[in-house]
Amino acid sequence: MNGLRAFWRSSIGKKQVMAVTGLVLAAWVALHMVGNLQVFQGPEAINHYAALLQGLKGPLWGMRLVLLACVALHVVAATQLTLRNRAARPEDYAVRIPQVSTLAARSLRVGGVLLLVYIIVHLMTFTVGNLHPDFIREDVYHNLVVVFRSPFKTAFYLLAMAALGLHLYHGLWSGVRSVGASRPSPEPRRRRLALVVALAVALGFAAVPLAVYLGFVQ
Ligand code: HEM
Repeated sequence: MNGLRAFWRSSIGKKQVMAVTGLVLAAWVALHMVGNLQVFQGPEAINHYAALLQGLKGPLWGMRLVLLACVALHVVAATQLTLRNRAARPEDYAVRIPQVSTLAARSLRVGGVLLLVYIIVHLMTFTVGNLHPDFIREDVYHNLVVVFRSPFKTAFYLLAMAALGLHLYHGLWSGVRSVGASRPSPEPRRRRLALVVALAVALGFAAVPLAVYLGFVQ
C-alpha cells in the first residue's frame, strides 16, 4: 500500500499512470470509431449494433466504470504534473522558440481540456440525450442525423476530432515510451505508426458528421 502511494506521489509514477490510462482510452476510442462507421451501412446496422451493446448490461457498466476511472486518473495526473512543473519554474522563459517540440506536444494541455469538455457535451447529447433536440434512445441513426444537420455542431465535432488526432499522435508514442515498451532511439518509426493510427481514428470519426452534413447520410 505504501509502495503504491509512493508510486503515485512520484512524477514518474504519475507519468506512467497517464500512459497506461491513455493507452486504454486510445484502444477504446479506436473501437468506438470502427463501430460508428456502421452508419454507412444504414440505420438497421448501427441501431442493431447499439441495441446489442445496450443489451450487455453488466459488461457495459463494467466498461463505463473502467473508462470513467481512466479519464479521472488521466486528468488528475495531468493536472498535478502541470502544477508541479509550474511550481518548479514559477517564472516563464523570457523567450520561447520551439526547436524540437511538435504542435501535437505543445497543444496537449489545451487539446486535453477541449476533449474533456467535448466528452461531457457528447455524453449529454448521445447517451443521456438531454442536450439532443429530438433524442430517441433506440434510434442512434436518427440521433446522429439530427445533430449533424447543424453546421455549428458539425464544426464543433470536427474541431474536437482535430484535437483528438493531435492528442493521440503525441500521446501514443510518448505513452509507449513512458511504460518502457520502447527505448529512446533516433529512429522515429514509432512516431510514424502513431501518426497513422491518430490520422485513421480522427478521419474515421470525422467521416460521420461530414457525411451527414454534406447529405451523403440522411
Ligand atoms: C464524430 C465523432 C463521434 C461520434 C459521431 C460519436 C457518436 C456516439 C454515439 C451515437 C453514442 C451513443 C451510442 C449508443 O447509444 O449506443 C456515443 C457514445 C459514447 N461516445 Fe462517442 N462519438 C464520437 C466520438 C467520441 C470520442 C472521440 C469519444 C471519447 C473521447 C467518445 C466517447 C463516447 C462515450 C464514452 C460514449 C458512451 C458509451 C456508453 O457508455 O454507452 N465518442 N458516441
